[in-house]
Amino acid sequence: MKKECNAVIEAIISKKNTPLGSNVIYDGENKKNMKITPKIFSTFPQESPFINLTYENCSVVGNGGILEDSGCGIQIDNSDFVIRCNLPPLNKDVGYKTNLVTANPSILFEKHFVDSADVYGTTLLALPAFSYKRNTAVSFRALYTLQDFKSQVQPIFLNPKYLQNLAEFWRHHGFQASQLSSGFTIVSLALELCHNIHIYGFWPFTVGLEGQHLRHHYYDDCKAKTIHNLPAEFRWLLTLHKKGILQMHLGKCK
Ligand code: CDP
Repeated sequence: MKKECNAVIEAIISKKNTPLGSNVIYDGENKKNMKITPKIFSTFPQESPFINLTYENCSVVGNGGILEDSGCGIQIDNSDFVIRCNLPPLNKDVGYKTNLVTANPSILFEKHFVDSADVYGTTLLALPAFSYKRNTAVSFRALYTLQDFKSQVQPIFLNPKYLQNLAEFWRHHGFQASQLSSGFTIVSLALELCHNIHIYGFWPFTVGLEGQHLRHHYYDDCKAKTIHNLPAEFRWLLTLHKKGILQMHLGKCK
């Protein structure tokens, strides 16, 4: 995976991997591209935030309803690095520590997102600014707003080249997804950044292990229309679990 995707260097757009004047190609809209102007370039960090870093124990937290009443927060917070999706609520079941959180641009439209982002404290906020054309302006607005409010949240942009290579990597291994979900993307990222990976909240089913009804998310039952294939992704995660590449947590935590 390192050879094909190289997340440490490539996952996040930086001045090093995306030069001034280059064209970035949107991973969700193949033929569309954007020229990197001095203004855009000035918002990029010099280097990838993951350079020279590997983490011993990481928790990757999906938003599945299986986390409700799990009491897994303390266990999750004890990890060295915690990754979450889509600026989710924090509570005793999922913990509070957050080192990296993603946000779908739809969320940036919907919420007073500076307030909702600030509860995460010092965290990286990964925005898919160059996945679809419509994401770009709103992602930059998010970045400028966070800077204006002197927020501790540090916005960064997911590199469409990395996302494309990642999709290609999984295709090559037999997983044909039209687009990877944000949860599956952050697990893939963790596979390169972390020695031990614990995943929570990945269970895209309406019935739990004890036959109980589950909401789609641990905080609501909204299931947006999506092009992701979460059950197929789940089967892959289960395979990785069986191979000992990551540890999937489905039950309650003691
Ligand atoms: O809408 P999106 O796929 O971006 O994500 P979400 O609904 O905010 O949930 C975050 C991630 O958690 C998803 O991308 C899935 O990988 C995972 N998830 C799951 O496995 N089972 C669920 N019932 C809900 C979410």
